[in-house]
Amino acid sequence: MAAAGIELDLPSRTFRPLLFGLGAWTDHLHFGYDLVAQLRPKILVELGTDRGESYFCFCQAAAEQQTGTRCYAIDTWQGDTHAGGYDETTYRQVDEHNRQQYHGFSTLVRASFDEALARFADDSIDLLHIDGLHTEEAVRHDLERWLPKLRSGGVLLMHDVLVRRNGFGVWKVWAEISKKGESFTFELGAGLGVWKNEEISSAPVLRMLFAKPDETSSALLDYYRAQATGLHQSIAQQWRDGSIRQTAFAQQTIIQVFHSIDGCHREEDSVYARLGHEGWKEVAIFLPAGAGALPLRIDFVSAFTVIDLASLVLKSGAGTLFDAGTGPEFDTIVVTGDAQRHPHPAYLRLKITGIDPQLFLPRIVAGTEGTCLVLTMRLRVSAGEPPRV
Ligand SMILES: C[S@@+](CC[C@H](N)C(=O)[O-])C[C@H]1O[C@@H](n2cnc3c(N)ncnc32)[C@H](O)[C@@H]1O
Repeated sequence: MAAAGIELDLPSRTFRPLLFGLGAWTDHLHFGYDLVAQLRPKILVELGTDRGESYFCFCQAAAEQQTGTRCYAIDTWQGDTHAGGYDETTYRQVDEHNRQQYHGFSTLVRASFDEALARFADDSIDLLHIDGLHTEEAVRHDLERWLPKLRSGGVLLMHDVLVRRNGFGVWKVWAEISKKGESFTFELGAGLGVWKNEEISSAPVLRMLFAKPDETSSALLDYYRAQATGLHQSIAQQWRDGSIRQTAFAQQTIIQVFHSIDGCHREEDSVYARLGHEGWKEVAIFLPAGAGALPLRIDFVSAFTVIDLASLVLKSGAGTLFDAGTGPEFDTIVVTGDAQRHPHPAYLRLKITGIDPQLFLPRIVAGTEGTCLVLTMRLRVSAGEPPRV
């Protein structure tokens, strides 16, 4: 690969990720691939796997580059307050992909990070990726418990080191640890911290990142930026031409609820939930203390599906603030963006026509201070024609 006239001989030149665009790791996939290919870790552990965007990139590198790595993904597969809650579809899909592609060397450990600690000896892990709950307290806790497991000369990755909204505190922990060894911060997407405690690394890609910035490191960063841009362009194209329907992404629907006390809807004032597409689902979304409904906005990320809503209820403590379960009540909900309302005698039926469908509930003055709002929905997402009943 030539960049700025410099030849970089990187394993990721031939990398075609089997999975991408599932989480927030798309920007770092080519680096993750090169790191595993060159470091050839014996033991790789990931804390926080979710749908597996980062983890399966490591596994793909281990398989294609025959690194002989044993990989472990640790997660409860229940979600957390930053990632949002999700149903069993995620674990089922991750488990299936793992069995199909990487069963010989990759193990899913369905447990809390603390429960999984005892499975690993001190000084045993060559590559550790921490990507769990992103509060400062949780990250400190995870790092304190797991750092002794990293062998001397091992490499630590920390994701989301740039994010400063919504109670994210990885940046604070990263600011401290990055000063203690060799480190590099990828300022791409949510940011990825790369850290190493001792010894000169055998991985050329790390030597380039940890060295004083020069033409070679700048060519390397240009290369990773270009690869990330390429992946984002592919995702945009998949939405434009509809081929997103055939990807792993299309098997789940993300619900993002924006709460508001002033009529503005901001990313940092939103909560996520995710669900699979089989049959009717009940989803309860708990909004944080102080959340308002002036108004609530509900976005779906759902690849050209049909969504039937049988009920939508907003409660504050024991009181019901909004309760829609029939045609006229659903008519008070505004449908806008990439969604069309289709007539149905019982449900609010939405045909999703693109990446940004939005529902606006009527403005509701939300209950008494100190009580939290809970939004519950009964819904069914159909990838093709919805069933008749
Ligand atoms: C940010 S996501 C991981 C994203 C993933 N690395 C990717 O590439 O998309 C965080 C995950 O950590 C898990 N998690 C958070 N805290 C945990 C804990 N203490 N024990 C086990 N799993 C946890 C959540 O279930 C969630 O799936």
